[in-house]
Amino acid sequence: MMPVVRPVVIVANWKMHTTLADAGELASSIARATAHPRVTRVICPPHVSLAAVSAALRGTDVAVGAQDCHSEAFGPYTGSVSAPMLAGLATWCLVGHSERRRDQTETDELISRKLLRCFEAGLRPVLCVGEQLEERDDGRAAATVRTQLEGALGAIIGRGPDAAAGLVVAYEPVWAIGTGRTARGADAASMAQAIRDVADGLGMDDAASLPVLYGGSVTSATIGEFLAEPTIDGALVGGASLKVEEMAGIVARASVTAEARQSAGVA
Ligand code: 13P
Repeated sequence: MMPVVRPVVIVANWKMHTTLADAGELASSIARATAHPRVTRVICPPHVSLAAVSAALRGTDVAVGAQDCHSEAFGPYTGSVSAPMLAGLATWCLVGHSERRRDQTETDELISRKLLRCFEAGLRPVLCVGEQLEERDDGRAAATVRTQLEGALGAIIGRGPDAAAGLVVAYEPVWAIGTGRTARGADAASMAQAIRDVADGLGMDDAASLPVLYGGSVTSATIGEFLAEPTIDGALVGGASLKVEEMAGIVARASVTAEARQSAGVA
């Protein structure tokens, strides 16, 4: 049997940081400092800076992602941005981030519709899942993530085994986001495998190739613990992604894993 080939992916989520005046320059600096072609790099700026970042990254191999999209393609939704509007500005889109689940009360059913809009618009979605601290303490972390995946992906995979082709999943334990506290590499690694197992159980085509990232207080100092785990394929980086030196360190470490996988024939 051929070994599974999975890419190494580093996604920068700038959240509600940067302005039009500085976003393009920051993106260019990150692109210059992270020029490792074997690592798939994506920068997700705020919507209003997508055009500036996209222009700044032209000619590089760093992709642009949005941080969210609406669950409908068009309609009377004042202030919202839909997936078809993002096409041309971005090629990736975060969906279901825990900050939106918390602040916009996004449900798995809504997130499922957003995923569908992304696939229809040709955007590559990064589906974010992860448990709260009390769910982990109660031993319900895996069950929580399973429920999120079933709710978000079940209806999509039900349309056909390849209906979620191109999907990336980010496992972001909520208690590790912005807290400086990371999950243990081994715990994140077993969750990454559990995520592929759930996708497989839902009938997803080639779930063994589904890239799963870790997110939550990732820095250049902590990325190594996660990339040492063969089941983890990269990171979704928040705070540290606003710092050029941090991104340089994170992507440099990711390139070591990408090279190692390449030579071992597993990536
Ligand atoms: P931090 O890296 O700031 O903890 O944020 C993680 C995150 O939410 C990325 O989407």
